[in-house]
Amino acid sequence: MYDLIIKNGYVVSPSSTVKCDIAVSGKKIAGLGTYSGSEGKRVIDAEGKYILPGVIEAHMHCQAPFQGCLGANSFYEQSVSAAHGGVTMFMDFANMGKGDSPYTQALARAEEMEESAIDYSVHGKFVESTPEAIADIEKMAEYGIPTFKMFMTYKKEGVMSDDETMLKVFEKAKSVNGLPMVHCESNAIAETNIEKCMEENDLSWVNFAKCKPVLCEAEAFARAVYFQEYVGNALLVVHTTNGEALNTARRAHGKGLPLYVETGPHYLTLFDDLYKGENGHLAICSPPLRTPKEAEELWEGLKDGTILLTGSDDCTFDVDEKSLFLEKNPDGTWKQDFTKVVNGMSGIEIRLPLMLSEGVSKGRISINKVCELTSTNIAKIYGCYPQKGVIAPGSDADIVIVDMDKEVTLSKEVLHNNISYCLHDGFQVKGYPVMTIAKGDVIVEDGEFKGEKGKGEFIKRKINPDYLERYGLN
Ligand code: URP
Ligand code: ZN
Ligand code: ZN
Repeated sequence: MYDLIIKNGYVVSPSSTVKCDIAVSGKKIAGLGTYSGSEGKRVIDAEGKYILPGVIEAHMHCQAPFQGCLGANSFYEQSVSAAHGGVTMFMDFANMGKGDSPYTQALARAEEMEESAIDYSVHGKFVESTPEAIADIEKMAEYGIPTFKMFMTYKKEGVMSDDETMLKVFEKAKSVNGLPMVHCESNAIAETNIEKCMEENDLSWVNFAKCKPVLCEAEAFARAVYFQEYVGNALLVVHTTNGEALNTARRAHGKGLPLYVETGPHYLTLFDDLYKGENGHLAICSPPLRTPKEAEELWEGLKDGTILLTGSDDCTFDVDEKSLFLEKNPDGTWKQDFTKVVNGMSGIEIRLPLMLSEGVSKGRISINKVCELTSTNIAKIYGCYPQKGVIAPGSDADIVIVDMDKEVTLSKEVLHNNISYCLHDGFQVKGYPVMTIAKGDVIVEDGEFKGEKGKGEFIKRKINPDYLERYGLN
């Protein structure tokens, strides 16, 4: 007797969509094929629905002290919101300051995440390259944390890695089959521009985006890739927003460099016109939102394989935190000062709906591509495949059932995070997750959360060396 049988759905992988049943025993997928209802303790009829491996969120910042703020969700709340969006595993970053041990901080972060209802993992973070910090890379990789994040900006916040740190982390990561992850923005370009805006006394939301233009990102992107080529390591660039950076990536791929590029759904669906609005500060994130033209470049990058991953870069701050250091004008409008606004926006719950709707329903990409971009490729590159990222016998029974006909108008009421606004308010999506199953347990059904606080487990990761030696995840 199986614990669960899911009948009649279309099971999606990167390379196929097959109508078949799924049998689940305990936490694992037991088999794919044809099963009779009498073989399962519970039987779910998924007729007409698509069944994808649970979404993996490898890029979020929850309960992360940054620019004087912490975030609106606890890890448990974050996991509930994530689960409503089909997410069955998420990863956050170690909190790091100068002098901290990256290894100790990564383990501390994993402990904070124990209350999650879904599985979780942690990325290390580097802000300096002391011999002690660099030595931690090996310890982290051995522990099952083979990914290490660095920021090329945020110098004033004390979390920027300088070029020397990047090189040293790249070298050491290479020696332990690790993968550095880089936030590419030139601190020099951003800070020089911000200083000019300060002198001109115009720190409007619109000027935030102008201070961090495409070239601010593209210069740092190219520098990181040259460092990568010099050292010969694998590299992952997070939240890429523009065609110029993608052209650098294409050149790198042409040389065979294992450079993995992530983008986020907000860069595909929201644009810099939001900064013209009174509440434009709610859309302040780094890199900034760009133009529809750049979004089309990103879609091309998704189609041609230049971009292999998506991540929401979820930073769920409510209005109170986004506005914490702002003042108002006598007429009640904001005294606009983007230097006083915490960077980041919410998005973990809507990554899959947006990729399904803007991608599949609008005919830009296939559902198989969405499977890659939200799950399979992420499991592969971050080192938890085939435990995660695939519906196959022996894999964790992390599953999301999707109704491609379901239409939803996004709003704060529809979502399950702890904030009082939704930047996608009124956005129509077609294609939505209707059931989320984490390690065999139905955790979201009929819009209701049925999971359990603390049920998530820490997932130890190890990256397939093939993915680190050459570009591609096959
Ligand atoms: O604006 C953003 N993305 N804030 C979070 C930190 C980061 O840059 O990833
Ligand atoms: Zn970032
Ligand atoms: Zn981020």
